Amino acid sequence: MSYSSSATATGAQEGAQSKRGFWSSRLAFILAATGSAVGLGNIWKFPYITGENGGGAFVLVYLICIAVVGIPIMMAEVLIGRRGGHSPVNSLRQITQRDKLNPAWKWVGAIGVLAGFLILSFYSVIGGWALSYVGTSAAGQFSGQTADAVGGIFSGLLSDPMTLLSWHTLFMALVMVVVARGVSSGLERATSILMPGLFVLLLIMVGYAMTSGHFGEAVSFLFQPDFSKLTTSGVLVALGHAFFTLSLGMAVMMAYGSYLPKNVSIAKASVTVSVMDTGVALLAGLAIFPIVFANGMEPGAGPGLIFQTLPLAFGQMPMGTLFGTLFFVLLVFAAWTSGISLLEPLVEWLEEQKGMNRTVSTLIAGLVCWVLGIASILSLNLWSDVAPLGMFAMFEGKTIFDLLDYLTANILLPLGGLLVAVLVGWFMSKQALQNELSLSEGGFNLWYNTLKFITPVAVLVVFLYNLS
Ligand code: TRP
Repeated sequence: MSYSSSATATGAQEGAQSKRGFWSSRLAFILAATGSAVGLGNIWKFPYITGENGGGAFVLVYLICIAVVGIPIMMAEVLIGRRGGHSPVNSLRQITQRDKLNPAWKWVGAIGVLAGFLILSFYSVIGGWALSYVGTSAAGQFSGQTADAVGGIFSGLLSDPMTLLSWHTLFMALVMVVVARGVSSGLERATSILMPGLFVLLLIMVGYAMTSGHFGEAVSFLFQPDFSKLTTSGVLVALGHAFFTLSLGMAVMMAYGSYLPKNVSIAKASVTVSVMDTGVALLAGLAIFPIVFANGMEPGAGPGLIFQTLPLAFGQMPMGTLFGTLFFVLLVFAAWTSGISLLEPLVEWLEEQKGMNRTVSTLIAGLVCWVLGIASILSLNLWSDVAPLGMFAMFEGKTIFDLLDYLTANILLPLGGLLVAVLVGWFMSKQALQNELSLSEGGFNLWYNTLKFITPVAVLVVFLYNLS
């Protein structure tokens, strides 16, 4: 096995390693990494933050962030994972031992495990919204409804903690079932079925929007930059979203990279995943905004955008019940494969650190996320006025739910990514990086210098501007 080259691994670690298995192929890794990347971030979050931040200019900044920050960091994370060959915390420990670095770097992985857990807690609640909308749509409840009635269905859902809790519970259970079955049988099989279905369903939706919506208006909204609409905080949101949508900054790609065979090109795999992820987000925008404009809806409606506006369109279009149901099934698929990747690092960490078996660690990790999710559910209704950090101007009026989203996407993820960029760009041996990537000299230098100089500066500048 290729890992036998790691001379520092102890006998026990070697034994554990041979049990871990590998992705059956490059395609399996790409499917799983894309499954992680493509999620609510692309279909729920990207359209609504694009709408809130004025469209084109925001999209342009987001695309730049993907190119100069996202892709280099994804390559760095996959590289750490494959070189370390363990869960993120242990991979980092391996690498710091091998390259004689400060062992404190392993905390990058620990921060990642913690942050994945924070994200999954509220992610599962939104996944629950999507699940509930499959049923609502299939029951034909959107057909022929007025905007008020559709808005009423959404606010009715948000105001009902018990219903939200049931859907959150179901979503978390779906995630746990796949994770408990382990990476090769569970994850791989699920993603290789779910991902292609997702692409097909999304293309159908864009086709519908092209023929029935205000497609031209949507295209100019998304692709004609108007910089007067872009704010400093909009730039931070775009940067944070580049991390969120590519599943970066939390060691998720490290965890997946540890299963990647040595003969697969990290650069090609990372670029493929990033391009597909970005493609899905843009397709989602092209599916959603034509319908938004055709119905005179508000692009800046916020987190409820797709749940408040699309059902109205589904209610008016021919075969809307079918398309609506398909759309929300698609959303659940996407959220499910992402949720799996949010739980995976935590479970791996419990397995390795605490020696628990996979079933027990999945149960414990899932249960803790589920409990924290209840705080997000309550902040949609009973606790909607509770703003725990409201004394700071930048967190004014933010509920627990808002805070978890803001702190993870806009602070923790970019911070984790920054540390990864610094570790790989400034501390790891350049020779080791070259061996691991096996790129042409030009390709390697482009990646290396971007990661070393441009990526960290970009993240720091955006951070500092937002603090001042
Ligand atoms: N990328 C996913 C989305 O867009 C969310 C996600 C899954 C994620 N795993 C992650 C975000 C790890 C950050 C880190 O919906």
